[in-house]
Amino acid sequence: MLRLRVICLFALPVLSTLLAGFLAAQQPSGASGRGGRPVIPQIDTTIGDRGQVVYAANCASCHGADARGTARGVDLVRAFGVRLDPTGAQLGAFLASGHKDHSVPPIALTETQVSEVAMYFRVRIDFANSGSNNVAADILVGNAKDGETYFNGDGKCRTCHSVTGDLKGIGTKYSATMVQNRIVLPRGRGPAGKGDPPEPARTVSIAQADGSTLSGTLVSISDFLVTYRDSSGVPHTVTRTGDVPKVTIRDPLQAHIDNMQRLTTKQMQDLTAYLVMK
Ligand code: HEC
Ligand code: HEC
Repeated sequence: MLRLRVICLFALPVLSTLLAGFLAAQQPSGASGRGGRPVIPQIDTTIGDRGQVVYAANCASCHGADARGTARGVDLVRAFGVRLDPTGAQLGAFLASGHKDHSVPPIALTETQVSEVAMYFRVRIDFANSGSNNVAADILVGNAKDGETYFNGDGKCRTCHSVTGDLKGIGTKYSATMVQNRIVLPRGRGPAGKGDPPEPARTVSIAQADGSTLSGTLVSISDFLVTYRDSSGVPHTVTRTGDVPKVTIRDPLQAHIDNMQRLTTKQMQDLTAYLVMK
């Protein structure tokens, strides 16, 4: 059973990666990371091809020629650890340390090779997401009944969703792969969200020195500026230094971010099997 043990390894950088991705989306393309934050580059198949060569020599024997896994290594196209690390920021150290728990001998790659391999994974994920490679049979291995139980019970999905309401018809709206992606990362939070609709807005509240609070929909945030739109759609920008003023962001997708770290592969597959029939 491929429980997502690696999640723990990646858990800490998850939020910063998501935040980096979010910030990257706020910046004009080509901008370099403000405040030193990495910007996720565009998919580049030339770099991906170079990554494939590195991958074939070092990884394919276990993870398969197409990165879809073998008995010796997990499917990396579907792996959360890969999806949450689009630039390979954590990958080099992971490989050099012998995977998790030193289960695989250390693999020393140069920084360039690591970023090329990360790009190769993005090309593969993009391909899987595009529907040109419909892996429905392969992805629908879960138990829909267990998925339903989890959805209505421990998964607490029903506190926000209904299969006769907002999720009605989701199985016809998306491919099976996409349904599974959305369970994990709704609306373009992942690196491979090509053509995704905009993510649901985050709200922000800013505690002013005089005790009043400004609030609205978050437009962008950096170390120095917060921009939000008020209820009539007018943008405002507030400067900040460190924690002053105190800025609190509320994310409608927080439950999904939390879930990423605790969903097991079985729960994810069961939920997918359940939802694709809706
Ligand atoms: C000897 C077999 C073997 C080789 C070679 C190997 N891996 Fe793995 N890999 C595994 C196994 C088994 C796992 C799952 C257990 C673990 O994480 O230790 C894994 C897990 C991973 C994960 C975590 C996936 C997740 O669930 O998030 C990543 C990322 C990964 N490998 C990347 C690579 C890359 C990149 C290479 C080549 C540079 C490589 N591996 C070479 C066997 C291998
Ligand atoms: C606290 C609220 C909350 C909980 C709990 C929650 N979600 Fe979500 N979910 C959201 C929000 C918000 C969205 C984004 C809706 C949108 O697309 O605007 C979303 C989106 C989704 C989507 C994509 C819908 C689409 O049409 O693109 C799926 C699938 C989904 N959630 C499944 C689940 C599952 C399965 C669970 C339980 C494991 C779950 N959610 C738990 C809030 C929640």
